[in-house]
Amino acid sequence: MYMVKYWYLTILALIFSLFANYLALLGPRFLGNAMDAISNEKGVLMNEVLYNFWRMLFCYVLSFILIYSLNVVMVILGQKITYLMRKQLFNRLTILPIAYFDSHPTGDIVSRISYDIDTVNASLSTDLIQVVTSIYTVLGSLYFMIIISKPLILVFVITVPISILFTKMKAKKVQPLHRIHSRKLGELNGFAEEMLSGAKTIGAYYQYDNITKKFDQKNNEAVEAYYNAEYYGAIIGPSVNFINNLSISLVMIFGGILYLLSQQGIVGEDSLWFIKIGGITQFVLYSRKFAGPINEFANIISEFQSAYTAAERIFRIIDEEPEPLDSKNAIKLVDIDGDVKLEDVSFGYLPNKMIIHNLSFHAKPGKTIAIVGPTGAGKTTIINLLMRFYDINSGQILVDNQEISSIIRDNLRASYTMVLQDTWLFYGTIYDNIVYGAENATLEDVVAAAKAAKIHSFIEQLPNGYYTLLSDDGINISKGQKQLITIARAMLPRTKMLILDEATSNVDSRTEIQIQNAMGELMKNRTCFVIAHRLSTIQNADLILVVKDGNVIEKGTHEELLNQGGFYASLFNSQFS
Ligand SMILES: Nc1ncnc2c1ncn2[C@@H]1O[C@H](COP(=O)(O)OP(=O)(O)O)[C@@H](O)[C@H]1O
Ligand SMILES: [Mg+2]
Repeated sequence: MYMVKYWYLTILALIFSLFANYLALLGPRFLGNAMDAISNEKGVLMNEVLYNFWRMLFCYVLSFILIYSLNVVMVILGQKITYLMRKQLFNRLTILPIAYFDSHPTGDIVSRISYDIDTVNASLSTDLIQVVTSIYTVLGSLYFMIIISKPLILVFVITVPISILFTKMKAKKVQPLHRIHSRKLGELNGFAEEMLSGAKTIGAYYQYDNITKKFDQKNNEAVEAYYNAEYYGAIIGPSVNFINNLSISLVMIFGGILYLLSQQGIVGEDSLWFIKIGGITQFVLYSRKFAGPINEFANIISEFQSAYTAAERIFRIIDEEPEPLDSKNAIKLVDIDGDVKLEDVSFGYLPNKMIIHNLSFHAKPGKTIAIVGPTGAGKTTIINLLMRFYDINSGQILVDNQEISSIIRDNLRASYTMVLQDTWLFYGTIYDNIVYGAENATLEDVVAAAKAAKIHSFIEQLPNGYYTLLSDDGINISKGQKQLITIARAMLPRTKMLILDEATSNVDSRTEIQIQNAMGELMKNRTCFVIAHRLSTIQNADLILVVKDGNVIEKGTHEELLNQGGFYASLFNSQFS
């Protein structure tokens, strides 16, 4: 547990808290003594009144200082725990297999990093201390009350169970309502997020009326849930208050009667029923201390429960199996040739649904392998296997005649450069984005890469050229231009293997061919895997694999495949007739 790691702060907080409460418990005693000194039969004992008054004041002031320090400690503790939790969570995310991100919504992960951690932090640190001190305060005040007057305790025998009943009712009734409320709120947020990210599509489909209606409905549900939860809370709060007031009044009346009886000597000083005016004062003060935590308990418990749910969500990530470690004798490839061979490879994302069936091909060093086929045929899946984002079910994949499962994963992945259809640029300058992954490249290298990617002249026109910040506002870059930047990025690392997975799908065909030509220069001696929709760009490939439903149905050069007059030929003719 995190509080154990920061045990010194936790203990400090506990000490502060217990001391502060101890002092606060002493306060009423001195006040009671002062009251007794005022109402003494020998007249007012001024010295004793002042003495006890100062002692009381001292207790309260010190208690105030301690509680202030306690709060400071708690803030520091919370800060440390939040930092550590977030760090662990994020670190875990960096070692999870790609499969995790393929199967979990990003928004949910983000909300765990931000919202759930805050929930846990808010509750755990403060509530845990509060529970300990509450128990202490309840027992402490009960102890003092018993010393002062046993008969007056009887009042609580009646009222405490009633208020416990009320708070229990509150916990039972209101808590599910709170849960519904947060769920509805979550749905509402998710909906808003969905809407924001799809604003263009929604506009294009004239769906704003529809969206507004749906949002209205969700908004209503959330508000309704809020009302229900707060409504019951609102009834029960005052009821408990009423009972508290009632018990204090009863203590006063009952205590007053006992006081009169004691005064008139009907009840002797050694009797159980004897009480002085100071005793009543103390008793009333203690009874308030006593009742407070009992009423608070239901709240704390419900806060605990929500923190528990949040913690569960966090730990579900932290406990997630990371990508298995490389085997002990995993090797590091040096001087890679770029020879890639697949032999009888079968693979499915789910055990009972194979996507790739007995796939075999050989990519010789420096050759270009094109993979074509309809959407969903399994082209990207093949790339996932080459990069070992997923492990194959049977067969083997060899790089330079080494089984890829026997190669250090980072080493394997670093020997590829990959450009995907989904362009990924980060907040930073264009220069930073291109140089990403090849940090020792010079500005000349970057410019050369940009020129080859046909994006140089565009960058030159920007206000700050290569040092223009890619931010949300300001300059507007088209999807195709973004893709060109990622292609320029891929040209820098001197890896032996290159993967282009529909990397030019947002670029016009003229530019695409120009890029292919430029790449030809830069990519000499590199083994390239190219997935492209437009067959015009892959005519020069050394080997074309035609994939359909996870099977290679045709294999050969452009000419060979055309002569075969099969699937490829009909695909090609449909694009060029
Ligand atoms: N992470 C995944 N989990 C389960 N199934 C997947 C996953 N990714 C892709 N698939 C399925 O695998 C098949 C091949 O997908 P993919 O290789 O992406 O096709 P494409 O040829 O268009 O690149 C599709 O039927 C797709 O639904
Ligand atoms: Mg794909």
